[in-house]
Amino acid sequence: MSETVQLTINDKSYDLPVIKGSENEKAIDISKLRAQTGYITIDTGFKNTGSTTSAITFLDGENGILRYRGYPIEQLAEKANFLEVCYLLIYGNLPTKTEFSSFTNNITNHTLVHEDMRSFLNAYPTKAHPMGILSASLCTLSTFYPESHEQNRSEESVDLTIYRLLAKLPTLAAWAYQNAVGHPVMYPKNKYNYCENFLQMMFAMPAFNYEPEPVIVDALNKLLILHADHEQNCSTSTVRVVGSSQANLYASISAGVSALWGPLHGGANQAVIEMLEKILNDGGGLKKWVEKAKDKEDSFRLMGFGHRVYKNFDPRAKIIKKAADDVLNKLGIVDPVLDIAKELEEVALNDEYFQSRGLYPNVDFYSGIIYRALGIPTEMFTVMFAMGRLPGWIAQWKEMMKDNQPIGRPRQIYTGEKERNYKSIEKR
Ligand code: SDX
Repeated sequence: MSETVQLTINDKSYDLPVIKGSENEKAIDISKLRAQTGYITIDTGFKNTGSTTSAITFLDGENGILRYRGYPIEQLAEKANFLEVCYLLIYGNLPTKTEFSSFTNNITNHTLVHEDMRSFLNAYPTKAHPMGILSASLCTLSTFYPESHEQNRSEESVDLTIYRLLAKLPTLAAWAYQNAVGHPVMYPKNKYNYCENFLQMMFAMPAFNYEPEPVIVDALNKLLILHADHEQNCSTSTVRVVGSSQANLYASISAGVSALWGPLHGGANQAVIEMLEKILNDGGGLKKWVEKAKDKEDSFRLMGFGHRVYKNFDPRAKIIKKAADDVLNKLGIVDPVLDIAKELEEVALNDEYFQSRGLYPNVDFYSGIIYRALGIPTEMFTVMFAMGRLPGWIAQWKEMMKDNQPIGRPRQIYTGEKERNYKSIEKR
């Protein structure tokens, strides 16, 4: 007998079914609530509302657990290759050697972008933020592949779009950066692996030879894995809702990039570095900034702190904090911003305000310090987040399409004017 809960409204009781997940999470299924009771529920920001079941990523916010398809993030970050993780998230299992080779070849063979995209990119102002370019470019890609707009897409056609997105996002990201700094774009080279190729498109110049350093390639691989998916966050929910209207995958991913840009979400990694530099330039007095972050009258927030789900440490932040030390040591970089970040974490975690609200460093708090060490400019940090999150967005879109989910269309409670009649302008 499946579990139910009872709801009583005006002395009438209703049994609502309970859904239990594979990790014993429980939800009350209200899909028939309005038909049964005339009531809807309301939960601004969806803090207590699940939008779907999903078999892709499991988070336990109280215990700091994150697993992709059952594999702990700590193991994947330490041992896996980012394209392996892409395959795992999108197709459900780690690839065999043959599957991985075929997947990698398919992606390598689609890294080039249509030359007409160059004139599109050249139209941007020099200081254009690369996230604006990336979101627009990904949606524009769909115009080069009209077959991707069809509704009843074959498995092969969807796979081809998946290969094109994974292959071309790094190229578009590097070109957006080159456009911003007025440098000539570099083309992908098939001799490089995924991370090496992105780095050479970012930093090589026609005038000199550039070979990606293994330390930097490994750090990038780890960062991309750590950002690859995170269940129903703001940008993933955006991808799902846009995709639920049967919009094509390019348009859905482009919408996800736009949602990620916000400083409360993926844009926080850029905001963290800008905050830490501001504190450093202000003389590094941390207490003042922590007090500002606590002051409800002050709009200042500790960027990179707090999370909707993690009310304990974000396991990704722990891994990235350690990786930041490793990478800076290996590269011989001393970055005072890292010291400020560690001190700020220390002060905040010993402060009742942060402790009582479960505010810990999240994935964005230390990631920018590594990106800086890799030579990636601050305005590109959220583009890096998007590059990592792309397989997660694709996997979630694919799951939503496979489950044949209805169009996402929430209800509301109207609080505006009651009915009134139009008056001509002379009589108003
Ligand atoms: C990401 O969802 C995901 O999974 C996202 C992500 C992913 O991988 O996709 O993990 C990536 O987006 C990480 C979060 C990056 N954003 C930031 O670092 C921005 C700073 N953080 C906050 O804006 C905030 O913590 C959020 C947006 C992350 C979470 O906001 P919630 O869940 O809506 O919580 P809230 O704003 O209601 O905060 C609860 C309390 C409030 O105080 P009280 O009303 O209880 O007095 O905590 C306070 C907030 O004022 N608070 C903060 C704070 N974050 C929350 N106070 C100071 N500094 C902060 N950073």
